Amino acid sequence: MITPTPLIAGNWKMNGLQASLAEACAIAEGAGRSRARVAICPPSLLVHQMAELLADTKVVVGGQDVHWEPSGAYTGDISAEMLADAGAKMVIIGHSERRACYCETDAMVARKVEASLAAGLEPIVCVGETLVERKAGAALTVVTGQLRGSLPKALAGKSFAVAYEPVWAIGTGLTPTTSEIEEMHRAIRATLVDLFGDDGAGVPILYGGSVKPSNAAEILHAAEVGGALVGGASLKASDFLAIVDAA
Ligand code: PGA
Repeated sequence: MITPTPLIAGNWKMNGLQASLAEACAIAEGAGRSRARVAICPPSLLVHQMAELLADTKVVVGGQDVHWEPSGAYTGDISAEMLADAGAKMVIIGHSERRACYCETDAMVARKVEASLAAGLEPIVCVGETLVERKAGAALTVVTGQLRGSLPKALAGKSFAVAYEPVWAIGTGLTPTTSEIEEMHRAIRATLVDLFGDDGAGVPILYGGSVKPSNAAEILHAAEVGGALVGGASLKASDFLAIVDAA
């Protein structure tokens, strides 16, 4: 069986100034030796410069969010077309911080995914349960429900990834056990196949939430884990590259 190429994406969140572009160059230099696909999703103000700096490397640049409309009176927002125009190739959609802090619903996430596809961006669609939901035994139901609501039919035949990020594992240092990750990723796979048929079998399912150099190999080699979405540990080239190397 051919192992699909893993995707390791760094989510810089609201971190990064001009000086941080040097860190991205260091990541690109080290990532050249990896078999993984590698992406950095910096704040949108850095997308254009980073995309130009990394143009001849294997690292692609992505955004962290877009509006679902192509243009208009939406103060502070950016459209998918703007992100693509700046040089982005991917975009994170529906991150739990967007869902929690900006009240994004599954329906809004689905519209953002459609807008991203229309602009030629590869979406990374995030799902994940809270600790209360996991303790109540509802994690699988919550996550598969989010998937059904957040993945529009327009994704059929398109390149996209799903990121499973338990909310309680993000930035906390806590991670699910390998068997909990595998159980969830199998449920996500079954949902993807149900929604998209054979195409759903090839969609990479990333794990995200406190991935770091010390746990990356175990997580990345778990069943149905097709890569990682990395927050804090993607800000430092040496840490991020250790994760890239573990893939
Ligand atoms: P973390 O964040 O790696 O800092 O936990 C992951 C994410 O939110 O994508």
